[in-house]
Amino acid sequence: MTQYIGAIDQGTTSTRFMIFDHAGNEVARHQLEHEQIMPQAGWVEHDPIEIWERTSSVLQNGLRKKNLKADDLAALGITNQRETTVVWNKQTGRPYYNAIVWQDTRTDKIASALERSGAGDTIRTKAGIPPATYFAAGKAQWILENVDGVRADAENGDALFGTIDTWVIWNLTGGVNGGVHVTDVTNASRTMLMNLETLDWDDELIELFGIPRQMLPTIAPSSPTEPYGHTTRTGPLAGEVPIASALGDQQAAMVGQVCFSAGQAKNTYGTGNFLLLNTGEKLVRSDNGLLTTVCYQFGSQAPIYALEGSIAVTGSAVQWLRDQLGIISGAAQSESLAKEVTDNGGVYFVPAFSGLFAPYWRSDARGAIVGLSRFNNNAHIARATLESICYQSRDVADAMEKDSGVKLEVLRVDGGVTANSLCMQIQSDVLGIPVSRPVVAETTALGAAYAAGLSIGFWKSTEELETHWKEDRRWEPEWTEETRAEKYGLWQKAVTRTLDWVD
Ligand code: G3P
Repeated sequence: MTQYIGAIDQGTTSTRFMIFDHAGNEVARHQLEHEQIMPQAGWVEHDPIEIWERTSSVLQNGLRKKNLKADDLAALGITNQRETTVVWNKQTGRPYYNAIVWQDTRTDKIASALERSGAGDTIRTKAGIPPATYFAAGKAQWILENVDGVRADAENGDALFGTIDTWVIWNLTGGVNGGVHVTDVTNASRTMLMNLETLDWDDELIELFGIPRQMLPTIAPSSPTEPYGHTTRTGPLAGEVPIASALGDQQAAMVGQVCFSAGQAKNTYGTGNFLLLNTGEKLVRSDNGLLTTVCYQFGSQAPIYALEGSIAVTGSAVQWLRDQLGIISGAAQSESLAKEVTDNGGVYFVPAFSGLFAPYWRSDARGAIVGLSRFNNNAHIARATLESICYQSRDVADAMEKDSGVKLEVLRVDGGVTANSLCMQIQSDVLGIPVSRPVVAETTALGAAYAAGLSIGFWKSTEELETHWKEDRRWEPEWTEETRAEKYGLWQKAVTRTLDWVD
């Protein structure tokens, strides 16, 4: 009997495979990191072949850990780092260039030229997002313009474009031997090429970026009525498992957190932070620097939309303390070091390392540590770093409230940084609402598994999934309103010090 659902979570720094049982509990996992390739300042690449090899390896090792076979999996779901772009040849299976990662800023001139030409508003209106280096279309345009032979191959249908979901599914379903070229609505909503209302590639948008339509994958629901395809007997699972979901990782976390009702929100704390608010079938356009994106689409149901506040640097600021400043030896130490002091000692740190994403969208910003006096020490810097994660989340939470009119009553959190209890307490203090962490913290993989299980009837309904969600820990606000207002005011002042730093 097939009693499990498998989920691949292909993230920015690592790839993991997780297996869940019918109660939504983890049965097995395997995880492998991959190389971060940084050929020059602002450029970030991944090797797509390495990503596929790591994916194959975690699938095999995950099954082996519990002595399972492909037949034990009722379905497989995929979730992935979003926006990261691959272009490959469908005859050889070889990428033309490394994957250009979402954090990569090489397309800043493409983005600013679009804004100058007035096309920015067209992109905002049709795709729900501003022209920015963050999204996929500019990255595909860069590859078409800078790598020999790609444009001609794209025009004759031999070069394929994909975000990472598409690359992984194409390989899982046979690659050069008939791989399926598909993406889901959530990933497509991160390209600047999909019309949010029609859920199809938009002619005007693809023309703006000069992308031949034949290189684009088919757009399908996140949880399709029929599987996108099946894994193959000669592939890493050595069997035919239906691939029954695909979602960008932040949208998958919404599903894993069972945020199925309009007004529910979650904040994922990874290398960056991503706060999403479910707005139901309503497409809410932001006046306050947030993104409008597809949250998920299950089967033939109407799509569910979300407002998103994307923050580029949060957990990676803690890594910076470790790798560049050397003031901590591991992420956990950021908590013990910050606890050596009772407050930030007047220090505010705005980690605008690659500009500021939501709600500012200022690529001219650079990081700043302000308010220093001779009294300050490493502990204040560590505390200011944790606070920066929380203040940036407050910036996007406030924008969300303005856009939606919905006041968050509780914030569901997940991701690596939620293990840092001090940071979660500060988050609750800064927002003035409770912060709640679920028992299953791997909400991203869980969400992909849920969507796959719903697709094949392994789980019957979202109501059934809601019964799985259990709170592990809750933090309640302790600051007074006065303290909250005063400290947040200083944070906002610190943000102004980072702007207009580069041309
Ligand atoms: O939009 C970028 C996001 O999908 C990356 O997530 O968890 O791989 O850093 P993560």
